[in-house]
Amino acid sequence: MEIRVEAGDITRAAADAVVVNLFEGVKTPGGGTGAVDRALGGAISETIRLGDLTGKANEFVLLYTHGRIPAPRVVVAGLGKSSEFTIDSVRNLAGKLVRYLRRPGIETVATIAHGAGIAGLPPAACAQAIAEGALLGGYRFTRRKGAGTKEENAEGPKRLIIVEHDAAKVPEMQAAVERGRILAEAANFARDLANEPSNYATPTVIAERAQELARELGLECEILERADAERMGMGAFLAVARGSDEPPKVIRLAYRGKGGEGYDLALIGKGITFDTGGISLKPAQNMEAMKADMTGAAAVIAAIGAIARLKVKVDVLAIAPCTENMPGGHATKPGDVAVALDGKTIEIVNTDAEGRLVLADAICWARQLGARRIVDVATLTGAVSVALGDQCYGLLANDDELARKVEAAAQAAGERTWRLPMFKEYEEQLKSDVADIKNTGGRNAGTITGAKFIERFVEGTPWVHLDIAGVDMAEKDRGWIVKGASGQAVRPLVHLALQLAGEG
Ligand code: BES
Ligand code: MN
Ligand code: ZN
Repeated sequence: MEIRVEAGDITRAAADAVVVNLFEGVKTPGGGTGAVDRALGGAISETIRLGDLTGKANEFVLLYTHGRIPAPRVVVAGLGKSSEFTIDSVRNLAGKLVRYLRRPGIETVATIAHGAGIAGLPPAACAQAIAEGALLGGYRFTRRKGAGTKEENAEGPKRLIIVEHDAAKVPEMQAAVERGRILAEAANFARDLANEPSNYATPTVIAERAQELARELGLECEILERADAERMGMGAFLAVARGSDEPPKVIRLAYRGKGGEGYDLALIGKGITFDTGGISLKPAQNMEAMKADMTGAAAVIAAIGAIARLKVKVDVLAIAPCTENMPGGHATKPGDVAVALDGKTIEIVNTDAEGRLVLADAICWARQLGARRIVDVATLTGAVSVALGDQCYGLLANDDELARKVEAAAQAAGERTWRLPMFKEYEEQLKSDVADIKNTGGRNAGTITGAKFIERFVEGTPWVHLDIAGVDMAEKDRGWIVKGASGQAVRPLVHLALQLAGEG
């Protein structure tokens, strides 16, 4: 979808539909909505009087203009209560809007800059949120539909024009749209990888996508094969990869926006392209969802790409350990001991707690490479869904300052996190009789003990762990989120880099 900001008068826009808005309870519309109402001889205020338009959030009312303005249709979007309206409402509205506009004959849409009028939000931020919402909310994964499959509804608008009457504001709004596009397209890139079935999105394929991105953006890219990981001593990663015939890959991407030593930020993403549980086999019910156990990897690859596109002045490292977790004659068995890259021994009491194993070696490697801050992203535990559902994701940290930065970055992206405690006493649950640590701490506090395990490998480096297992796949469309892979955590990681560079 093409998105442009143009100076002009919304009532004069040449489009298949013009979009204006209304706060809940408003009887006499003002601003752009008022102008369109007057041009239509009061059709919008009449609809309000009749009770068919209330301004409630999620309401869209379609009116026909009968030649009174160039556009044949007007859509009035409800904004909800003005006291509850934020920039997140704008992003969500744009997402819902593009889905609502999937109808035959609607290719070009002209809209006012929702939020920038009576709501008084900064116009550039609104333009960015509209671009993000439209591109994220209009996303569909159709790549594996057969060639002859008809879409259930029309394709959706091809052009979205944000009409701003103050020409002086247009350049900064247009720049904001470009930023929104980079952020949204990164999240959609991650969504594509996660929505792909595991026989398409293998570690090999993810590595190829990372290499393509690196070539396009001039990133450094290194792919470790199984033999490389063996030579380096990544015994924790290999303990997971053992059971699979699909070649595992450890993907390393590096971006130097500052040109310093080491890295200001290392992003580590769990890349289990299918999690059967291994010998500690998962039940068949819903196991198909485990094709998306690599959304952490997808998020860090997508994020470093966007950070490079935005030319953020920061040095970033991304590592994505990618493998299947399979049972089989070579697979790790419960009770086996693995030796991680830093020499620590791990008793693997449950082969289904594999994410923390692959993260452990990736984090050790990041530290060797000079990471000064680490953020890992992982679909680590079912327990995080039990605790938080799909409204926010778990954030656990060994450093308050970095935790606050990541919280702020998530908020800037319109995503919600919730911090869970990291009391020292939880470490007792991970004590092993035979090794330095064991990989599960039982049912209680599963998300916390998962983080506690990872913490042992970050040693003292400031670190944040995001457990996105509850939010990475959405059950239904909701604002900018669509059913399937949500792309959560991608934009927050980019905002974090911007913040670290003082550009956020
Ligand atoms: N990938 C799963 C976690 C998961 C569950 C993600 C449901 C998305 C939806 C992870 O590898 C796993 O199996 N975790 C175990 C840990 C346990 C064995 C300590 C879990 O949550 O049961
Ligand atoms: Mn598992
Ligand atoms: Zn897993």
